[in-house]
Amino acid sequence: MQKYEAAMDKGLEGVVACSTSVSSIVDATLLYRGFAIEDLAKNSSFEEVIFLLWNNKLPNKEELQSLQQNLLSNMSFSDKEILQLKTLPIKGVHPMAWLRTAVSVLSLLDLKSQSTKKEDQLFIRNSLTGKMLSLVALLNCIREGRDLLPIQKEYSMAWNFLNSLQGKEPTDEQVKVFDTCLILHADHSLNCSTFTARVTASSLSDIYSSIVSAIGALKGPLHGGANEEVLKTLKEIGSTKNVEPWLQNSLKNKYKIMGFGHRVYKNGDPRAKILKSMSKSLCEKSGDSNLFEMSNLLEELMKKEKNILPNVDFYSATVYNSLGILSDLFTPIFAASRVSGWLAHVLEQWEQNRIYRPKGQWKGKINQLWKPFDQR
Ligand code: COA
Repeated sequence: MQKYEAAMDKGLEGVVACSTSVSSIVDATLLYRGFAIEDLAKNSSFEEVIFLLWNNKLPNKEELQSLQQNLLSNMSFSDKEILQLKTLPIKGVHPMAWLRTAVSVLSLLDLKSQSTKKEDQLFIRNSLTGKMLSLVALLNCIREGRDLLPIQKEYSMAWNFLNSLQGKEPTDEQVKVFDTCLILHADHSLNCSTFTARVTASSLSDIYSSIVSAIGALKGPLHGGANEEVLKTLKEIGSTKNVEPWLQNSLKNKYKIMGFGHRVYKNGDPRAKILKSMSKSLCEKSGDSNLFEMSNLLEELMKKEKNILPNVDFYSATVYNSLGILSDLFTPIFAASRVSGWLAHVLEQWEQNRIYRPKGQWKGKINQLWKPFDQR
């Protein structure tokens, strides 16, 4: 018998796959370039966080303004892009599948998509980061038979996104809440989709291919797709009195409770704490606290029964719902924020590239011999 090396843990738990200085989880908190997520969520803006992730420093006023204007101009599409994007099927199509294909379409229309020149790659990075939020708004507009509203350069990306999504100007509070959500989702060390983006980049494929792969990975319910599932769960439960029997039944059947658990945080996800307080205040203000109360009770019971705590997806669902956003757009919005982190990682990967090529521990037969049909 062949001797095998020890198998890695399933799911690569604890395996160090690369070195990175984009973001990290240190003790119980998340750091972007060394800055705590709580600090950034309270004091920063999404555009400033993007600058930080891409440049490894906070911007001065001029640098921030310049990036903001650049990203805002990239939030608009050319007529050719709109024409092609409008031909994509939308009926019965999940928005994440649409987004994945839409990014591919943009790559076909970008004559520099295969360029290996750094200046072209930086151009694509900025362009994709602006366009991803607008793609989500565009999809909603196509579904509602409206056009995207023109970008207003004196406002933020969050403001412009909500403006087009809703077809009317958002309030300051809505913009602040949404901007904070974008900050919280922007990066998260070597999560599944970021690793996917880096793996694709490691073969020296192009930026668009890395982002398309990452969108595909984020789509799954064990990753970004969980936020949409959380709202489905809460709607299925219906009221606080149903939470306990629903949970008992789900645990008895070994169902995974969406929005709970994490590979790295075992004492709670710092982003969930920030989102919880936003969810509470938004639900109270709306006069309908039912979803928040159900969430809170589910959290208490999950802690008691399994000692498993909420992750970023749990309270983001009720926050987005309070902003009037449809649940099938929750994961695309996650992608439109996370693209900033994916792109920081792709470029970092290329600075220190070696193709990813792990081994699989063989557990099948060996020494098999081909036989003709009559001997099988
Ligand atoms: N509901 C119920 N049980 C859960 C759970 C959840 N959400 N998350 C973890 N567990 C349990 C597992 O069943 C397992 O129990 P066991 O040892 O008795 O089999 C144990 O906790 C360890 O979980 P495991 O799935 O091995 O953790 P992981 O590190 O592989 O996976 C997640 C992490 C996030 C994928 C997992 O917690 C999960 O599926 N959560 C729900 C989906 C979700 O919210 N994803 C978004 C992540 S940000």
